Amino acid sequence: MADAAGGEGGGSIVARGVIAREPGQPGVVEEFTIDAPGPGEALVRILASGVCHTDLSAKNGVFGTEWFPFLLGHEGAGVVERVGEGVTNVAPGDHVILAWRAPCGECRFCRVGQPHLCAASLNAEKRMRTMDGKTLTPILGIGTFCTHTLVHSKQCVPYDPALPAEQMSLLGCGVTTGVGAALNSADVKPGTSAAVFGCGGVGNSVIMGAKLAGATTIIGVDIDPRKLAWAREFGATHTVNPTEGDPVAAIKAITGGHGVNYAFEAVGRAETIEQAIFSRDLAGTCVIVGVCGPEATFELPLARFFDLGGNLRISWYGDCLPTRDFPLLAEWYRQGRLDLDRVVTRVISLEEAEEGFHAMERGETLRSVIRI
Ligand code: APR
Ligand code: ZN
Ligand code: ZN
Repeated sequence: MADAAGGEGGGSIVARGVIAREPGQPGVVEEFTIDAPGPGEALVRILASGVCHTDLSAKNGVFGTEWFPFLLGHEGAGVVERVGEGVTNVAPGDHVILAWRAPCGECRFCRVGQPHLCAASLNAEKRMRTMDGKTLTPILGIGTFCTHTLVHSKQCVPYDPALPAEQMSLLGCGVTTGVGAALNSADVKPGTSAAVFGCGGVGNSVIMGAKLAGATTIIGVDIDPRKLAWAREFGATHTVNPTEGDPVAAIKAITGGHGVNYAFEAVGRAETIEQAIFSRDLAGTCVIVGVCGPEATFELPLARFFDLGGNLRISWYGDCLPTRDFPLLAEWYRQGRLDLDRVVTRVISLEEAEEGFHAMERGETLRSVIRI
């Protein structure tokens, strides 16, 4: 890390990271500058970052083109290097997982005790710029495919440095999203049945969550046999491949003709949402985790939907509270109850980030993790 402003400790620095300049173009490693942390902010040296779908979507322009250039990555762990004025929750040297939800404590949701729905989550000011002076948008207010990033200090959740940064980074997004969908959003009860549509990094994390909650029938549904093999390793008791026949019928057959108590959708397609809704037993809960494209729609037969009863809900970020859930999941990892090692399919370098996206698109990985 070089000191661009020449200031002792307090100046701006030059970092390196994967930057997406134009929609649809590959992310390229570039140098960029980071101003000194402002009040409440923290400069974090990144140790590891998972490669998540949202980075690929942002890079491809799915969230609009006005935010380019992006500093990619939002699933990271690192070490606090410097803090701004008034920071008390972390100090330099702390190992932290970065959260993209940092409840403000003051919005209409936080005020009524629902900080997991915070509508004004805290982020640092935009203090990172390309060497040609363009202001960078860090993905989900984080930016982790880089040597350093600047976040709000409340986005930093400490973890025990004896735990591996690669595995801890995954708690920042995908794993917490999946496990949280089972534990927080659905509140899966012991002895129940669950079906999980889509057994990628998120879906397999739902499977881990359902198993932790004591579900006894867990059905992994995926069109890719490799993903179904992984699903069994994570705790699926049954698997269903929709290319071999109607998955709803297969789920009913496994559950004595009734359907499941909980159905999770972790693909992000209208077709699988519809299948998830109708694979439930009476009064079952359907939780949508997958993010559909803007054009996705389907027709809902309302009488059939009503007659099933139950719940249909959306789960954002597994309804997690990072300060409560990251330490809990880290502890379960330490105890051997949460198999994060198996989620880390590949460890790659910063320069290989683009290859990480391609491996994801080819379905070869649950997670590539960049080690900085
Ligand atoms: N039925 C079942 N599974 C399917 C189908 C289908 N029709 N189509 C695709 N899949 C499977 C893929 O084979 C893949 O294993 O869905 C899985 C999706 O997993 P990943 O691509 O690895 O994505 P993941 O990171 O797990 O995220 C899943 O959750 O948070 C959201 O934005 C995220 O929408 C995405 C979803
Ligand atoms: Zn809030
Ligand atoms: Zn993510």
